[in-house]
Amino acid sequence: MTKVHELRLAKRMARLGTETAFEVLVKARALEAKGRDIVHLEIGEPDFDTPGNIIDAGCDAVRKGFTHYGPSAGLPQLRETIAQYVSETRRVEARPEEVVVVPGGKPIIFFTILALVEEGDEVIYPNPGFPIYESMINYVGAKAVPIRLREEMEFRLDVDELGGLISDHTKLIIMNSPQNPTGGVLTKKDISGIARAIGDQNIMVLSDEIYSRLIFEGEHHSIMSIDGMKERCILLDGFSKTYAMTGWRMGYGVMRSDLAEHVARLMTNSNSCTASFTQVAGVEALRGPQDSVMKMCAEFKKRRDVFVKGLNQIKGFSCRMPHGAFYTFPNIKQTGWPSKKLADALLDDAGVACLSGTAFGDFGEGYLRFSVANSIENLQSALERIEQWSKRNL
Ligand SMILES: Cc1ncc(COP(=O)(O)O)c(C=O)c1O
Repeated sequence: MTKVHELRLAKRMARLGTETAFEVLVKARALEAKGRDIVHLEIGEPDFDTPGNIIDAGCDAVRKGFTHYGPSAGLPQLRETIAQYVSETRRVEARPEEVVVVPGGKPIIFFTILALVEEGDEVIYPNPGFPIYESMINYVGAKAVPIRLREEMEFRLDVDELGGLISDHTKLIIMNSPQNPTGGVLTKKDISGIARAIGDQNIMVLSDEIYSRLIFEGEHHSIMSIDGMKERCILLDGFSKTYAMTGWRMGYGVMRSDLAEHVARLMTNSNSCTASFTQVAGVEALRGPQDSVMKMCAEFKKRRDVFVKGLNQIKGFSCRMPHGAFYTFPNIKQTGWPSKKLADALLDDAGVACLSGTAFGDFGEGYLRFSVANSIENLQSALERIEQWSKRNL
């Protein structure tokens, strides 16, 4: 008889979280396999195709032999292009040696935290927020200090409250605007208030700006643009959301060059490099025509308007207007149902896949997240199903 070997997992794995969106997607697909009809509003990716000029550039690159390893920090032509793009959009002088290209935006979260944060350090992060922040903070044994995003402030943070959370142990502050899951957008005043709260303390800021081009009202403001902050800032941006390139796996971080070297070393130790032909397509994405970005953003805005209006007509639901990204984050406290139970019921009984607000942290209780990256027709069908469900159950 063969001996059964117990799996002896490293203890740190117990501290690693996950992203529930992928689990709900699997559950929704399993229901579909049994013949159920599901409207998918759970996953955070554009439903558009990658623009043709980018696809052509990627295919061309494969044929031209960009099928080998490249430098860990990224191909020089892409680092140069990103440095130029960031210099223009964030009004700072970014240099190619400050850019590290990685497979998606996520690795910048992973690598920044691995490179900077030690056991016992404190990291302030938005809650509700992208779950990978809290997961990674816990993974490295640091203390996760949530800053609450407040519905009454259109899901922005209270700068005075942030000031009160900063301590001698604060190593890193994570910001995200436009925000996942709430669609909240920090104002210029918020950003300068945050910089003032940090003052001249040696605290780094990870500014996750992956939705920077998906803004419906107002403008995107980056803390990197504020005098004196660039050296303490790691900018996270990428191609997944802006150019509908989630499956290509490409994002980047912009940071002081001495930190960039360490992050590139983490790349050498983990991925070696981002796919070379993907990076050539990235140059085309940033340098080529931008009309597809504008079109996609306008379409998300239209869908947001339809979906928010519809949600606000359903008993127990009230939804603020998100100003960016492609999510809606309705308050469901009046239903009397806990978020997770309600999200499960909507999937099981109404055929609408969405996420519980608690998938984004404890302060997400009382909310659900619906992605509007789906057609108006499907969004309307989801609204009808939720309304019918609420009439039956509330
Ligand atoms: C706030 C935020 N940051 C980072 C990412 C990661 O993006 P990528 O797919 O490029 O790794 C996401 C994806 O959902 C996100 O919502």
